[in-house]
Amino acid sequence: MEVKIAPSILSADFGHLNDDISIIDDYVDYIHVDVMDGHFVPNLTFGAPVVSCIRSKHPLDVHLMIENPEKYLEDFAKAGANILTIHYEACENLSEVIRRIKEFGMKAGVSINPGTNVEVLEDILPEIDWALIMSVEPGFGGQSFMPNALHKIEWLRGKSPQLNIAVDGGINAETAVKVKEAGANVLIAGSYIFKAEDRIAAINSLR
Ligand code: DX5
Ligand code: ZN
Repeated sequence: MEVKIAPSILSADFGHLNDDISIIDDYVDYIHVDVMDGHFVPNLTFGAPVVSCIRSKHPLDVHLMIENPEKYLEDFAKAGANILTIHYEACENLSEVIRRIKEFGMKAGVSINPGTNVEVLEDILPEIDWALIMSVEPGFGGQSFMPNALHKIEWLRGKSPQLNIAVDGGINAETAVKVKEAGANVLIAGSYIFKAEDRIAAINSLR
């Protein structure tokens, strides 16, 4: 599968977000948007009003690290989210939330934390468009890649040749090689891209 790059704007300059995006927009495939609530993860970012201000020619891949995500599906749909990813650990009725995400016209993604077994996704694989394997504890950019993500990616790719398998956390030119070998096709990278002196070279080094 062709490798797609999704820069995580968590490491961009929030005061000049659309400028930061416009610099890289011609070189990437999605824009990854991290929504954090201070409960599901020990950090806060922003909600739907900020998402609605993001300008890119690519689909917005909105990663909800929040409790009770079902309360906010319509808000994010209206804000322009194209792929809405919820956390397995944050949902009591995952199938129902996935169904509603699709009803709102978005693609449905499910993410698992480093401590969650990938097998929990088996039953819902036919229902989802996108699986997001966390390769750091969610909440902050700039952490080191956790190699236990690799066997999860391999397992998923073995089950589902066409699924979009995204990996998030600690992605750089070295870890990109490993996750691609394991079968990931969407590479999410924040600090590696936005803290680079040459952001476009950093993006190209991931492909
Ligand atoms: C972390 C976020 C990531 C984060 C990745 O909870 O979900 O998207 O921005 O940052 P890096 O690429 O710096 O590990
Ligand atoms: Zn993320």
